[in-house]
Amino acid sequence: MRKINIGIIGFGTVGSGVVKILREKKAFLAAKTGIEINIKKICDKDLSSRRNVRVDKDLLTRDAKEIIDDTQIDILVELMGGIHPAKELITEAMRKGKNIVTANKALLAQSGQELFTLAAERGKSIYFEASVGAGIPIIKALREGLVANSFKSISGIVNGTSNFVLSQMSGNNCSFSEALSKAKRLGFAESDPSLDIDGIDSAHKLILLTYLAFGKFVNLKDIYIEGISQVSLADVNYAKELGYEIKLLAIAEREEDGLEVRVHPTFIPKNHLLASVSGMFNAIYVESDLAGDLLFYGPGAGQLAAASAVVSDLIDLTQDIKAGLFRPTMNVVPDKSIKRLCSIEDYQNRYYIRFMAVDKPGVLARVSGILAKYGISIASVTQKERSKSHVVPIVMVIHEAKEKNLRLALNMIDRQDIIKEKSVAIRIEEV
Ligand SMILES: NC(=O)c1ccc[n+]([C@@H]2O[C@H](COP(=O)([O-])OP(=O)(O)OC[C@H]3O[C@@H](n4cnc5c(N)ncnc54)[C@H](OP(=O)(O)O)[C@@H]3O)[C@@H](O)[C@H]2O)c1
Repeated sequence: MRKINIGIIGFGTVGSGVVKILREKKAFLAAKTGIEINIKKICDKDLSSRRNVRVDKDLLTRDAKEIIDDTQIDILVELMGGIHPAKELITEAMRKGKNIVTANKALLAQSGQELFTLAAERGKSIYFEASVGAGIPIIKALREGLVANSFKSISGIVNGTSNFVLSQMSGNNCSFSEALSKAKRLGFAESDPSLDIDGIDSAHKLILLTYLAFGKFVNLKDIYIEGISQVSLADVNYAKELGYEIKLLAIAEREEDGLEVRVHPTFIPKNHLLASVSGMFNAIYVESDLAGDLLFYGPGAGQLAAASAVVSDLIDLTQDIKAGLFRPTMNVVPDKSIKRLCSIEDYQNRYYIRFMAVDKPGVLARVSGILAKYGISIASVTQKERSKSHVVPIVMVIHEAKEKNLRLALNMIDRQDIIKEKSVAIRIEEV
């Protein structure tokens, strides 16, 4: 049986999961693939922590060069995370003839284009299934299963932490900070959760999905990103009353000659499949021309889920190596009909708006007068509560409006003496 050597850098959550699967399913995988995947070296900064898998001490090193310089190692599995030195190690490994498997969405979102180009020049592959949706095989689906399709849109709930927080707010009627504290307690949020909560992690994943679906590598700075920290329990509850759930969506959507790429809290109708994706689960909803509308759903994180995707990449690569094949990292073809990235200001849709206004006659007329001035028409208005403080929420759903006009209108409304807090606007997607 052909034996292929691999080296792993990063023996943490995912790295030890990969070792566990390769150990426990060694015979099963060999019988399925006809290849023995041999772990030749494992590198980590920390060799003293206990892992949930036993390994021979001789396999362990703190020195990544022992993997990079070993000519008998065919595949580098990078599971340390972060940008540096992961980028330098991957680059050096490719220069030394190795193929790469990684789960590092942050690195690929920042330097993917450069690394994919280097891989193509060197006739090497970079596989990264675990970088989006952990064990959900969305990368393989986009590049292989759906290869004949053109895509209208991709809408993903791709950050488990944010989804957990929003699900807690909606299901348990708790505030954002209560929900976030619970996520931290349960180990579903980092002590500094900003990458997740501020939508950056979702944007990293959106860059990879957009690249695969539309052939366009978008820079992080060109994505409109709004996180969930401003979502209040009041908005979550109004959403439910209006027949929606609030989800943090990462969206890439084709417009006439352009592409919208954005991450933001979104009202989704309760009966849409994405609305029922709760807790740490992820889902990616794909609108394609041939296969139709598809939903990919599963745990968005977790040791074995992510390791399952890494092992799948390893099997693909070992099959390529065995067959003497080179498959360019991604058979990505740029969609020439996409001429530009759309600005969020041109985004046109329905919105939920909440104003906090003084409770007196004529307020509604003033607010609606300003909206009308910017060509914005109201679909529905609710003002149920009365308040001793004389400040009450006015909740509106507006018909399709251009974001630029809405921003101008809200800016003017917020300067009125009848408005006591910054107004909230959340985009409504019928998806
Ligand atoms: N966890 C998940 O569910 C999941 C899902 C999908 C994708 N991913 C991605 O998978 C990657 C690994 O995540 P993880 O959760 O396994 O992280 P982790 O538990 O922190 O493991 C990373 C390991 O790499 C070590 N390391 C860091 N820098 C190193 C260096 N320069 N040389 C050698 N070892 C180094 C770390 O040591 P120290 O702890 O001492 O720094 C740690 O043991 C990340 O890119 C992450 O985004 C994770």
